[in-house]
Amino acid sequence: MLNGKEIVLIISGGIAAYKSLDLIRRLKERGARVIPVMTSGAQEFITPLAVGALSAETVFTDLFDRQAEHDVGHIRLARDHDLVLIAPATANLLAKFALGIADDLATSILLATDKPVLAAPAMNPKMWQDPATARNVETLKDRGVVFCGPASGEMAERGEAGVGRMSEPLDIAAAAAAIFRNTAQQTRDRPLAGRHVLITAGPTHEPIDPVRYIANRSSGKQGYALAQAAAEAGARVTLVAGPVSLPDPENVDVVHVESAAEMLKAVESALPADIAIMAAAVADWRVASAGAQKIKKDRNGKPPALELEENPDILSTVGHDPKLRPSVLIGFAAETQDLVANALGKLERKNADWILANDVSPATGIMGGDANTIRLVSRDGIEDWPEMGKTEVARRIITRAAEALAARS
Ligand code: C5P
Repeated sequence: MLNGKEIVLIISGGIAAYKSLDLIRRLKERGARVIPVMTSGAQEFITPLAVGALSAETVFTDLFDRQAEHDVGHIRLARDHDLVLIAPATANLLAKFALGIADDLATSILLATDKPVLAAPAMNPKMWQDPATARNVETLKDRGVVFCGPASGEMAERGEAGVGRMSEPLDIAAAAAAIFRNTAQQTRDRPLAGRHVLITAGPTHEPIDPVRYIANRSSGKQGYALAQAAAEAGARVTLVAGPVSLPDPENVDVVHVESAAEMLKAVESALPADIAIMAAAVADWRVASAGAQKIKKDRNGKPPALELEENPDILSTVGHDPKLRPSVLIGFAAETQDLVANALGKLERKNADWILANDVSPATGIMGGDANTIRLVSRDGIEDWPEMGKTEVARRIITRAAEALAARS
């Protein structure tokens, strides 16, 4: 069904234009609003008056209509609706569309639109078979244009038959409905299509000297699973990863870093993002002046004094910078005691939307293991999730983050 859908119907100049009048009726019967655009050729076959009467809408014909262009008319026509349908699509219009020529309103809309385009070609069979037309159709298909027909049968020209007749209005309406069904399915399957998700994962290594470092325990498994799940949900994903021994996930831009300072720099250059999930176990301190040479053992058995300084808090830095902060910002809290109180403190201090808290006491086996038990702590309350595999946890977090993002944008 086409309930509530807004369809820009481009009618170009061919004898099949008379069938567009029936097409308008069929689309409207199915609940669509039809906004007609006619080329000058189309007006040789049917009148804007008839099209306007059937659609009950203003018929757009001119690129330089003062009234409409006042509001960047062709751009609005191209963008503000749900589908651009060309019926009939002549060989000439398809050729111009394929080449990117925009010398009238119809072709300007086609060049400017970011919406699905459905074309119902109608032309003489020889024109359809011509290699020039075939190449144009291939080009347009590669660009994602969907074709309905042409059908075969008698032509308007006496004695001619073959492939070139415009598809019947009912078939064109069905093709339009199928496009909306597919798009709806894609939105369900790939809720993060067109979005950018940034994830930090793994530990950081803070050098003491060229061979020694301070680190946190972290396998990176949960962060890597999150990157994978975000990519599967259709997002462009940047994964900023500390040193781990995991293969790079597919379809993810991985930036490998060592220290917290490098991680912060990589995060800042990867932003902006729609969602950021900071799953890295960043070392809280680094050695104030890491030795350029390996520190030698003292013969008298006296260990070197290591002066530590605090690392930047990446989550907090991003959370408090309005220019950097993604719409949805999520942190983790790995704790061995006072899980919820600590998580709530972090939520506020770091200005995150959620803190995913997990008890990492050695007895839980979460560290380095494949399962995780999460408590989602947000300003709306606390949710306890049952124990799940890290892949399952990741999918659930990504689904919830996508919902939160959709609710905010
Ligand atoms: O304060 P704590 O380290 O427990 O906070 C954990 C959360 O903050 C995690 O999401 C972690 O990735 C993030 N974090 C950070 N930079 C730090 C320390 C923690 O991004 N220097």
